Amino acid sequence: MAISLEEIVRNVNDLPTMSSIAVQVIRLTEDPYSTVKQLDEAICRDQAMAAKVLRLSNSAYYGYSRHIATIVEAIGVLGFSTIRDLVVAASVNNVLNREVQGYQMARGEIWRHSITCAMTARAIAQRVRFPAADRAFIAGLMHDIGKVILNIYMVDSYGEIIERVRREQRPFSAVEEDVLGFTHATVGGMVADKWNLPTDQVEAIACHHTPLDARESPQLTAIIHLADVVCMAMGIGLGGDALHYSFAGETLALFGLNELDMELIMAELAELMGDINMLN
Ligand SMILES: [Fe+2]
Ligand SMILES: [Fe+2]
Repeated sequence: MAISLEEIVRNVNDLPTMSSIAVQVIRLTEDPYSTVKQLDEAICRDQAMAAKVLRLSNSAYYGYSRHIATIVEAIGVLGFSTIRDLVVAASVNNVLNREVQGYQMARGEIWRHSITCAMTARAIAQRVRFPAADRAFIAGLMHDIGKVILNIYMVDSYGEIIERVRREQRPFSAVEEDVLGFTHATVGGMVADKWNLPTDQVEAIACHHTPLDARESPQLTAIIHLADVVCMAMGIGLGGDALHYSFAGETLALFGLNELDMELIMAELAELMGDINMLN
């Protein structure tokens, strides 16, 4: 069942955008003259958002033993850029916290996969000294968001795709493109573009299964691909996407990494996974 581009665009337009608070927080954290008070006021305009940010701030991932009780305290302890990541995560959570039946992912699974991938992408970015680890976090968080759009078509086509993946021994995303006319990666890039993400993040999302196609940001794209591979190796919420996953080993070489480095990253993350479900 091939889908028309107009249908995809219509569905992308129907998807809720990043909340206006998240957009404002991104702007404030990029402005060196912003104050803690301004950031606090922006976040606290939405109490549900503030509560999610506090819950994330208190997750084991950040490793603080003392309880963070207020947004001002969270900003002081975690810093502007981490707070921005948490606000974006809380905003994206509203879109990703659903069942994506077409991809055989139960409610919560795509969120768990996405937030794990975001954290992994940031860890890899820091390890390879990529200058914009925050961009890696946000691209990792949104890399599979196209699944939310394609989900409705997948409900009918999943069986056929899986059958062909097994028969033809080809990656899931390649057969997805053959059957639907689009991959969740391409559609995810369209969502990211609609949400006004910078072009390097749009490309990283659109090319996360084909990182060697990236032209503008091969490094960021490689980081998202590797983070996805780590999540797959850890068995975190992939659904059908993991079948015959085509791992581009060249992305490791781009950073002078080897498989042992990947295992170390996995070991680092494994301890922190217990907390990932907290937003569900
Ligand atoms: Fe994917
Ligand atoms: Fe993924």
